[in-house]
Formats: sequence, structure tokens, C-alpha cells
Amino acid sequence: MIEDYLGEIFASEVHYADLQESMKYSLLAGGKRIRPILTLETCRLCGGDPEAALPFACAVEMVHTYSLIHDDLPAMDDDNLRRGRPTNHIVYGESTAILAGDALLTAAFGQLAQAKLPAGQIVEAVKCLSRAAGSAGMVGGQALDMAGEGRALNIEELELLQSLKTGALISAAAVLGCIAAGGTVRQRELVSVYAQALGRAFQVRDDMLDITSSPEELGKPVGSDRTNEKSTFAAALGLDGCAALVEELTRQAVETIEHFAEPEFHIWLARSLAARRN
Ligand code: IPE
Ligand code: IPE
Ligand code: MG
Ligand code: MG
Ligand code: MG
Repeated sequence: MIEDYLGEIFASEVHYADLQESMKYSLLAGGKRIRPILTLETCRLCGGDPEAALPFACAVEMVHTYSLIHDDLPAMDDDNLRRGRPTNHIVYGESTAILAGDALLTAAFGQLAQAKLPAGQIVEAVKCLSRAAGSAGMVGGQALDMAGEGRALNIEELELLQSLKTGALISAAAVLGCIAAGGTVRQRELVSVYAQALGRAFQVRDDMLDITSSPEELGKPVGSDRTNEKSTFAAALGLDGCAALVEELTRQAVETIEHFAEPEFHIWLARSLAARRN
């Protein structure tokens, strides 16, 4: 459902072919699609029809893809491999890569507006995604990440940084599913707590894989954090400490989601992400 929907977004008019190609290049390059899947499945979990949540789900993936294009730029992590391909700026140049990111971010909010849902739910979705993506969320976390290069951040600083740069968007993905379902305040709280724990575990695992994986398996470079003198959980706790933290956060996520009647997918997702290899 997600791949089909994303593939059709670009059917409309083209004014500058390179820009559209570069947006497609990154958006349709695979990727695990964890965030949009989380939106669809959380909609189902909260009693809604996943089909209705599809524009919200794809909006989150568009914001996520833009964040990756910008994260890889020379001014940020300066990486040359993403989703198993050369990064966007390597293929299309820096200015087009920056603009492709800008356009994906902007188009994401257009997608929210196109959902076939009551206007009140769409307004809630706009509030949720703009907060999660902006300076109080992902962009704020990226700013802390850049400012932290070359410094040893303490655990509290790292927790804040990672909960913003990664946790905020993963949490928004789940909450958007609940909003699409017209879920209750209690449901929204629970999915948010679940996804924050999931998001934190996800980034700790990402830090581990930057050391233990290979570019072939990961689809992106390894050792990038060390090269850029990033503070990571792997540097702060060591790999065994990270594994224990991922296990504990996964346990918290599972315990939270068990309050729902049919939590099987969300439990499976948390457990498989804790052991993921890419
Ligand atoms: C990578 O996210 C960036 C982080 C927040 C760690 P993903 O690991 O979800 O990347 P894709 O979408 O599968 O490429
Ligand atoms: C980036 O974190 C998270 C984003 C908001 C894009 P990383 O810099 O660790 O992500 P990767 O490892 O390059 O995917
Ligand atoms: Mg980064
Ligand atoms: Mg990076
Ligand atoms: Mg990383």
C-alpha cells in the first residue's frame, strides 16, 4: 500500500525534471518503511481503517526521507551511501539535494490535507507532525547532534538529543495512526509512550550498527559517527550496555502496548527492531 501510494505522488506536472527525479530517487529507494507501517497499524490498533491513514503514513515517510537527504549533506554527516545507493547530493549535487528535501517536507503537509478524514482530524495531524518535525522535535535533535560533535555528551543530554532527532518522528507516526482512527485520549497517550520507547531503542540500535555492521548489510556507511566525533550511546555505554538498554526499552514498549486488545503486530515490531541488522 505504501509503495503504491508513494509511487503515484509524482504523477503531477513537472517544471524541473532533475528536482522531481531527485525526490523520487530517495523516496522510492526502499528503506524499511517503519514509520508509515507504524501509522497504518496503529490506526488499525485503535479501531480505524488503515486505508484512511495512508496519506498520513506517507507524509511521515516524506518528512523522514527529507531528513535523511539533509542528514547526509557535506555540512552535516557528509555520507555517500544511503539505502544502498549513492546519497542524493552525490548524484544530483548539493543544491538539488537541499531543494528535494525542502520539497518533500512541503509536500508532506499537502498529503495530510488530502486525507479523506474529517477536517478536525486533519488539523490535529498537522499540529502533531509540525511539532514532531520542527525545532521542538527532529530538527531540534539534529541541531543538538551537530552542536555535540567533538564533545562527550552525558547520558541525559544524549537521551534528549535522541528522543528529539529520532523518537519524535517515530512517535508522531504512531500518534497519526491514532488520530486517523479517531482514537481516544487514553489510546493516544499509550501509543505515544509505546512509540517513544520504540524510537529510543531504534536509535540506540542505530548507534550500535554504525560499529558492528557493514555497508553492504546496512545500506549506509559504517564508522560515520566516529569519523564525525559524534556522542552516541555506543560510545557512552559500550555495546553490551547498549544491548541491555535496547532490551529494557523494548520491554517498556511491549508492556505499554499490551493495554490494547490486539497488540500482536506492535509487540512483534518492537522485538524485531531490537534485533534488527539494518
Ligand atoms: C535512519 O532511519 C535514520 C535514523 C533515525 C536512525 P531508518 O533506519 O528508518 O532508515 P530507512 O528509512 O530504513 O532507510
Ligand atoms: C539521523 O541520525 C536522524 C535523522 C533525523 C535523519 P543519524 O545521523 O544517526 O542517522 P543515519 O545513521 O545517518 O541514518
Ligand atoms: Mg546525523
Ligand atoms: Mg547520519
Ligand atoms: Mg546513525
